[in-house]
Amino acid sequence: MNTFGELFRVTTFGESHGPAIGCVIDGCPPGVTIAPEDFAEDLGRRATGRTRHTSQRHEADVVEILSGVYEGRTTGTPIALVIRNTDAKSKDYEDIAQTFRPGHADYTYWQKYGHRDPRGGGRSSARETTMRVAAAVIAKRWLNDKFGVRVRGHLAQIGEVVPRSFDWNAVEGNPFFWPDAAQVAELETYMDALRKSGDSVGARITVVADGVPPGWGEPIYGKLDGELAGALMSINAVKGVEVGDGFAVVAQRGSEHRDEIAPEGFQSNHAGGILGGISTGQQVIVSAAFKPTSSLRLPARSLDMDGQPVEVVVKGRHDPCVGVRATPICEAMVALVLMDQALRHRAQCGDVGDVSPRIKPGKAKR
Ligand SMILES: Cc1cc2nc3c(=O)[nH]c(=O)nc-3n(C[C@H](O)[C@H](O)[C@H](O)COP(=O)(O)O)c2cc1C
Repeated sequence: MNTFGELFRVTTFGESHGPAIGCVIDGCPPGVTIAPEDFAEDLGRRATGRTRHTSQRHEADVVEILSGVYEGRTTGTPIALVIRNTDAKSKDYEDIAQTFRPGHADYTYWQKYGHRDPRGGGRSSARETTMRVAAAVIAKRWLNDKFGVRVRGHLAQIGEVVPRSFDWNAVEGNPFFWPDAAQVAELETYMDALRKSGDSVGARITVVADGVPPGWGEPIYGKLDGELAGALMSINAVKGVEVGDGFAVVAQRGSEHRDEIAPEGFQSNHAGGILGGISTGQQVIVSAAFKPTSSLRLPARSLDMDGQPVEVVVKGRHDPCVGVRATPICEAMVALVLMDQALRHRAQCGDVGDVSPRIKPGKAKR
């Protein structure tokens, strides 16, 4: 299953060390302005090798638009995007091609398909997420042009470190997408020590969508929160998703959690901007938990393809914390879901129009 979305459908293809990765976007409305250089910013935010805190694979990530765009605007026909892989070092994987790396998809792909491309993790590599980010550049553009929707994310935890303060302006000013500028030096030291130890750590990313109007989401089986959870969970290494307060609701009282409504708007946003699977008009807030990187130079036990015990030491270029680069990927999945849901809402309920009263977003969380 390599296709995502109902009306804004994105199909990705390609392997980590194949000649190219790409996607076909079907169902994009005509008239969205887009040029090859528009992809550079978000792809650069996701890319490896830009700081010492990510894998040192250096990919140019230049997008070629093969179809669906004419004179700088989408035509409504399938949009095909391709990025050539230019810095794959398959030699790094020769030693481990015959073993199942712990924490990786090697064993499950082998059991499912009976044949696999082991180079760089093949299709299970996060290289694939590049195309999600590319497709979402178009989704973000449309959402913003049409509704003023803005989707942005930040790292909310690395290992045991949490932000001490919050400022959106700090997020893009450091390699961690960290919302507390005063803490960045501490994080650099933390990450340097982690890299030196050969170990890895997990992370939490939060994405906030501003400007989502009330009404998006398709109960029962196409709920907005359900689709966001599925979308975030489809990202490599994600082991948990929260909507709004998420698992913290377990310890809350109803009197605290229900978001009260007053003439000046919603009084809180514990629900994450979604009720009954439909957006409320508040900020949509979701978080994803990323597991620590499995590829380590610290030896681990496993079996080889003959079922014999082996010691696995993973060489090559890896992210000591996969979450560090994953903020644009989480944003991308949120944008793809929102665009798809917006089109679905327009298809079924486009004639409903504005319904009163329209409750103001009120006290926003972020
Ligand atoms: C942005 C990003 C970068 C990643 N980089 C690495 C990496 O360098 N080394 C690694 O072992 N896993 C990395 N992963 C995670 C693996 O792709 C993933 O754990 C593996 O394919 C198994 O899938 P699962 O963890 O979703 O079950 C990365 C994930 C993301 C989102």
